[in-house]
Amino acid sequence: MSSRRILVRAPSNIALIKYMGKSDVSLNLPLNSSLSMTLSDLCTWAELIVEDSEKFELEIAESILDLGPTRSTMQKRLLQNAWSETDRTKALKHAARVRSQMGADSLKGKWILKTNNTFPAGAGIASSASSFAAMTLAFAAACSKDAYQFSREWRQDSEFIHRLTDLSRLGSGSSCRSFQGPWVLWNPDRVAVLPYPAPFVDLVVVVDQGKKSVSSSDAHLRVLDSPLWLGRPERVSKRVSALRIALEKNDLHAISAIAWAEALEMHGLFHTSKEPFSYWKPETLKVLNWLEESKTSSSAEPPAVVTLDAGANVHVLVTQEYAEAWKDRIKQKFPEFKILEDRPGTGAEIVEVQEGVY
Ligand code: DP6
Repeated sequence: MSSRRILVRAPSNIALIKYMGKSDVSLNLPLNSSLSMTLSDLCTWAELIVEDSEKFELEIAESILDLGPTRSTMQKRLLQNAWSETDRTKALKHAARVRSQMGADSLKGKWILKTNNTFPAGAGIASSASSFAAMTLAFAAACSKDAYQFSREWRQDSEFIHRLTDLSRLGSGSSCRSFQGPWVLWNPDRVAVLPYPAPFVDLVVVVDQGKKSVSSSDAHLRVLDSPLWLGRPERVSKRVSALRIALEKNDLHAISAIAWAEALEMHGLFHTSKEPFSYWKPETLKVLNWLEESKTSSSAEPPAVVTLDAGANVHVLVTQEYAEAWKDRIKQKFPEFKILEDRPGTGAEIVEVQEGVY
């Protein structure tokens, strides 16, 4: 019997211009462009073991995967995923989709998938982005005839990256921005990496770890009947252009102002849809109120860039130089909240491929 082991990791990403509202729900096509910063260590690790079998099957194993002694620091961070029935069904559907798009419909074999995140569920980090990017890459490598070659070559072929991001998007929209970095622009029809400076540390102030009351897939539908939706695609288009200029010039005041306006607009859409809903907790407001005053309080320091995902937790992007000072400040003001920390990264990677016979 032969077996193959593919180990990949894919980071999450944090959008400064948000994907919210779909033009095609089944294809996860967005109504506007979005722009995000790819993270690094806040990621999903996925191991896919492929064994001989008479038919194709996917098994999901719920345990902590073994990264080996050389990655002992990363190993300590891995958390066991709790797979719901919905998650399992989505993973199965995605495996079938990747096999089909890779032209490997007739491929047989037993795929045993283990995925672990390095961040807890409900921490305000998009786990569907990192997990679908990781699954897409692992499944695509498993479909290739030579996984070694695939692991060496996939990043050099921009058309292939485009195919992968397209495929991943079908699983979860925001995952298409996790393959490259640090800045990724998702135009409705294509993902592009932008070579702007990213001198940031992302400090995530975790005010709440509860499960979201409204899934982001539902939020995409419900924002469309908010009166504030009117003119949003045009506003976003202007914001994207302004943000690109600001990023290129590393104009932190402009980046901060654009991110703040965009995050509040997205949450404003939630708060004003026909059946309004909110992800915010009272603590979210406390943190936002404090940040509104303190993010630009010292003229000697660059302002913090503040944003929120579809959740209660607050991302504070600060320059590396002032990261420790910001961490101390936040800890002093809000000792009750956990702070997660990460840096910009370059996207998904195949970490290891092993072929074996037993
Ligand atoms: C709020 O990618 O989770 O994080 O395509 O339905 O899986 P689906 O939605 P998802 O949308 C999350 C959007 C967001 C903003 C963003 O990351 O752009």
